[in-house]
Amino acid sequence: MFAPHKVAIEQNQRFLDSIVKESETLYHSYWPSPPSPPPQDGELRPNALDLDKVHSTLRQFVRDWSAEGFQERDSVFRPIMTALQKALPNPRGKKILVPGAGLSRLSVDLAACGFDVQGNEFSYHMLIGGHFAMNHCENSGEHLIQPFCDGTINNFSRRDQFRVVPIPDVSAYQMMDHAEARGIQFGQLSMVAGDFTEVFKKPSQCGAWDSVVTCFFIDTAHNIVEYIHILFDLLAPGGIWVNVGPLLFHFSDQLSEVSVDVTYEELKVIVQNVGFEVVDEATVTTSYTNNSQSMKQMLYHCPFFACRKPVSE
Ligand SMILES: C[S@@+](CC[C@H](N)C(=O)[O-])C[C@H]1O[C@@H](n2cnc3c(N)ncnc32)[C@H](O)[C@@H]1O
Repeated sequence: MFAPHKVAIEQNQRFLDSIVKESETLYHSYWPSPPSPPPQDGELRPNALDLDKVHSTLRQFVRDWSAEGFQERDSVFRPIMTALQKALPNPRGKKILVPGAGLSRLSVDLAACGFDVQGNEFSYHMLIGGHFAMNHCENSGEHLIQPFCDGTINNFSRRDQFRVVPIPDVSAYQMMDHAEARGIQFGQLSMVAGDFTEVFKKPSQCGAWDSVVTCFFIDTAHNIVEYIHILFDLLAPGGIWVNVGPLLFHFSDQLSEVSVDVTYEELKVIVQNVGFEVVDEATVTTSYTNNSQSMKQMLYHCPFFACRKPVSE
């Protein structure tokens, strides 16, 4: 009875082992100080949070790096790309920052359009997974995962529950080749590890970016007003901030944490008071790490907007 579970668990484990194996090089570049002592046997038992992180990372791979995730990505990436192409028609040498980059698909897609892109992340799972996706996947579908194997409810069939998702739909290396074939020079691509508010509040970052793109990110703030001030300072005069995503406010239900839960109307007032001019605005219907075959479909009708930092303040 549990044979399909065993196959799925082993398949997922092979994928996770590959990610962990390739993370060693990453540790040397991000965290050059010697690692803490290896955990003792008893400490290796994963807790509920660890399991949840692995589960959500697999689902994030479906969102960012599978053919199944195309529609979900396209619903938010397309308006972002359109706004950027309008604001920065010549991408060569234009610098874009992507805070909360997740597994980096948006960053890679932007680099494939010719922009120089830097992602920023503070989650080990996203940094390690994104490093693997960007630097160690070469061919379409070279990894197979079964990310929905433990979802026992709302299934039409066991086939849906145990379906195999090939990763990646297209690799970053293949995207480089495709860009070259279209005569586009693939932009520079980098990733900075650390908390957005710590890394990007530094004076050296002031005015350093032609654009900042936030996708499902701004509601990770304790204080969204602080985020908006930082975003404004990061941009060069005339620079553009493009945002899409809900106002879920990740800390809202944690009593011991600060969470400034504004409405979209209030957010727009704050954005304009900080100094931005809203140049484009729409509502986008999208999902986030959705199981497309489930009976339960979660959709957001969330704001999309582009705002400009005035040339003269
Ligand atoms: C909801 S996810 C969105 C990921 C990606 N942008 C996407 O659309 O799939 C938010 C991401 O922001 C990251 N994040 C949250 N707070 C952050 C912070 N203060 N600094 C850097 N990254 C942060 C999380 O680790 C997570 O990967």
